[in-house]
Parts: sequence; C-alpha cells; structure tokens
Amino acid sequence: MMSSDLSSSHDAWASTPPKVTRPNPCCEPPNLLGECMFLGFVAILGITCVLLCKLILWLFHVEIDFGQPAWLQWLQRPEKQDVNTWLNGQKSIINFSFAGVSKPQDTLHLRAAANENIALAFNITNSLTTASTSTHKNFLKMASGTINRPGRDWIKLFEKATSTLTAELPRDTSQPLHLAEATRITCLKVVLIDNFQISSDSLPRDSLVIITDEINNQWLKAKSSSEKPVISSLLIHHLTALQRRDPRCLCWPFDQLKPEEILSMIMPQYETLWRVVMVTYILAFHLYPSPTLPSRISSVPECLGTNSLEEREALKLAKEGLRLTPSNKRIYRHTPSSSFKIKADLELMHRHPSIWGPTALEFSPSRFDNLSPLQTEAYLPYSLRPHRCPAFGGFGDRMVTCLVVAMGRVLDTKAGKVFNTEPTKRAGVVDTGRDGLEGWRYQRG
Ligand code: HEM
Ligand SMILES: *[C@@H]1O[C@H](CO)[C@@H](O)[C@H](O)[C@H]1NC(C)=O
Ligand SMILES: *[C@@H]1O[C@H](CO)[C@@H](O)[C@H](O)[C@H]1NC(C)=O
Repeated sequence: MMSSDLSSSHDAWASTPPKVTRPNPCCEPPNLLGECMFLGFVAILGITCVLLCKLILWLFHVEIDFGQPAWLQWLQRPEKQDVNTWLNGQKSIINFSFAGVSKPQDTLHLRAAANENIALAFNITNSLTTASTSTHKNFLKMASGTINRPGRDWIKLFEKATSTLTAELPRDTSQPLHLAEATRITCLKVVLIDNFQISSDSLPRDSLVIITDEINNQWLKAKSSSEKPVISSLLIHHLTALQRRDPRCLCWPFDQLKPEEILSMIMPQYETLWRVVMVTYILAFHLYPSPTLPSRISSVPECLGTNSLEEREALKLAKEGLRLTPSNKRIYRHTPSSSFKIKADLELMHRHPSIWGPTALEFSPSRFDNLSPLQTEAYLPYSLRPHRCPAFGGFGDRMVTCLVVAMGRVLDTKAGKVFNTEPTKRAGVVDTGRDGLEGWRYQRG
C-alpha cells in the first residue's frame, strides 16, 4: 500500500515536473547591502533567542543537560582529526587539564557537578559524587582498605557465584534463564559478601531482585530525565530489611550503617561490574569462542591473587571485556564557567579503528599479549590520575575474571546456548546500552 502510493506519486512528479518560475538573475539589480543587513538581522535574532531561552531556563531553575554543544562535537569529530590530537583531547577531559585545574577542590567540583543526578537518585555520598576534599579522602581510604584487605578468599567468592548461578537455572530445562537478572543478583551478592562478610543465607533472592531492579530504574531516571530524580523509598526499604533480617548472621558494620551508606559503598563496585561481566561472558564463551579459552581460564579461581603467569593470562579476559565494554562508556566533567557538561568517549577510545586496527570490534584477549604504545595510551577503563579508580591495580580485573569464569562454568557452552529475544540494530556488536541487555537468555539443551 504505502510503497505503491509513494511510487505512483513519484511517477507523477517524474512525468510532469513542477513549474518553477525563476527570476532572471541578469535583470535583477544586485542588492548586496540589503542581503547583508538581512543576514545580520537573522544572526542577531538567533543569538537573542538562544540567550532568552537560557535566561528563561535559568529563571525557572530548569537545568537541561545540553551535553557538549553540537558545533563543538562536530569540530571534534575523530575522523576529522589526527588520532593523536583527538586522543589527547579526550585524555585532557579525563585528567581535568582541559579546565586548567589540578587542585582537588576544583577537580572534585567538576566531577561532582557532572554526577549530581546519580547522587540525588540514590542519596549517596562517595568519592565520585562529593565536592568535599575530606569526604573524598575518607571514602577513598575506606575503598582502598576494602580492595587491599589481606587474605581475600577468591575461591570462596567464586563458589558463591557458581552456587548462586546454579540456583538461578530454571528447574524445567525447557525454560530459558534471564541472563541480565541472574548476572545482577550474582554480582550484588558477591560484592555484599566480599565487603561485609555476610553469610549468603542472609541474602534472600527476592530482596536481591527488587534491589537490583530498583537500582536499574533509578539509574535510568538519573541518566534520562530532565527533572531532578528523587530517591526510591522501595530501594531504601529493602536494603533496610536486608540489614534487619537476621542480626545474628550479619556482620558489623553492615547492620550499623545507614542504607544510603551501604549504597554509597556498593554502587561503584556493583554498578561497574554487572554489565561488563555479562557482556564479557557472552563474547568470550558464545560469540567469539577461541580454542585458547579453556587453557586461559583453567587455573581460575585458584590463580586469582597469585600474580602468577597463569593469572596474567586469565586476567586478559577481563581486560578485553573492559576494552569493548568499559564500565563508564563516557566520563563526564562539568566545565568551570558554564552549564555545559563535557564528556570523554571511553568506548570510542577503546574501539577506534585507527588505534585498534581492523579487528577493533572483535573480542580477542590475546591482543593484550602485546599492545602498541598508542593502544596502551588509549586504554583507560579505570580512568586517569588524579582520580583513577582504586581497583586499578588488579582487583577490578580479578573480580571481573572471577565472575565471568563462574558464569562460563555454570552456563556452559556445551550444555546450552545464548540468544537475544530483542535483536539489536547493529549485527555482531553487543548493544551494551542500559536496556540493551534485558533480552538475553541462556537456554539449556
Ligand atoms: C571493573 C571494576 C571497576 C571499574 C571498571 C571502575 C572504573 C572506575 C572509573 C572509570 C573511575 C573514575 C571516574 C572518573 O574519572 O571520574 C572510578 C573511580 C572510583 N572507583 Fe572504580 N571501578 C571498578 C571497581 C571499583 C571497586 C571494586 C571499587 C571499590 C571498592 C571502586 C571504587 C572507586 C572509587 C572510590 C573511585 C573514585 C576515585 C577517586 O575519586 O579518586 N571501583 N572507577
Ligand atoms: C593530561 O592529559 C594531557 C593529554 O594527554 C597531557 O598532555 C597532560 O600532561 C596531562 N596532565 C597531567 C597533569 O597529567
Ligand atoms: C539521605 O541520606 C542521609 C544519610 O546519609 C539521611 O540522613 C537522609 O535522611 C537521606 N535523605 C532522604 C531524603 O532520605
């Protein structure tokens, strides 16, 4: 219907071209002055309109994320620039040199202002959301303490992950497993057990599902809405219920902290982990199965934390996952003198064909056997100083590897396969957007 209508009208156009009466240019006296005045008038009108809009928005306290102005983004298109120049521009956003600031009170302000909606949606105060140097320092000390805690039992964490995933497999083998949900509750459980030494009996599945769903909803609201997000009482309620569940099982300080303080602690860990873990599992075990994968991961979890050769090979799984799916696809900073946010495109830095070559979009952990100097410079999943992530030195890679291999062992390639019930627009590349992962299923048999 539609297409025949279109083509018949197209034919009509072709057979009888519309008559256009054009003035003969030679006969018209040129009126340059008039045209210039007209253009000048249009320009002034345009600028006035923009300023007026901004004034109105400001007067009514409406704040809109304008992002980077479109003309600036257009000028900075990576294909229009030498890749080194572009890369340095991105890095100068990440390390704050774009703004010419280096004192902590300035850098923290530029980051906190850009993360304000996240802080509001979760009512959290941590290094990533605060502009206070003392809050930042204390939180960082606490986070580093967690990361460097001696005697972490990677084998126990791995077993908690595999037992959680095994329990998630539907009894009825014809039923598929919802991968995103299973990944989320496994990651949250492992983070809570690791941070607070809680017994897993105190972490009922129903609560974990509600908490992880609610974190997702709040995150979407914080990222997409132009209004100021409000905290979720449902989320706070279920976190509190978790804390009150069985005081004898729970460990200090978990039962003593405010629910917001627990969120402040776990968000930089759980929220950075679950998507990269799920996508790396899909890529490594299903979409790009390599003959070297079994030997690369055969010593997990025993090798974790040993700094051995085997561990270095296994961690390349996480490194390649974090390349294609950096937990922070973009790193946002506020600009010092305006209401604009500016962003560094970490995802593009990690996929740029001039940097990573023709296999840029393929999952291949062995590329980390030998990175070129340019690749090393462009690979920044943990950001840069002065605010580089404390999980930079191995903990992040270990946690990702531990969880990805746990998924690979339980949701085995030989026993089943994955598929996406919501096919993505771009073939081959996993859509890692926030709701792009909900359609993935694992089906046994
Ligand atoms: C795969 C795991 C992780 C990734 C990819 C990751 C990524 C990042 C990134 C990109 C930043 C810097 C943001 C910016 O420049 O504004 C950051 C900062 C931070 N991350 Fe992580 N992170 C991970 C795990 C963790 C864990 C496990 C913890 C805590 C136990 C943690 C705590 C923090 C803290 C406290 C900061 C702020 C650092 C500062 O302000 O100096 N992260 N993380
Ligand atoms: C920040 O990054 C830019 C671009 O790579 C670099 O030129 C500059 O030296 C860096 N600044 C600091 C303080 O590290
Ligand atoms: C936000 O969290 C703090 C504790 O960190 C709490 O005292 C305050 O009541 C919370 N705000 C709201 C609106 O719930």
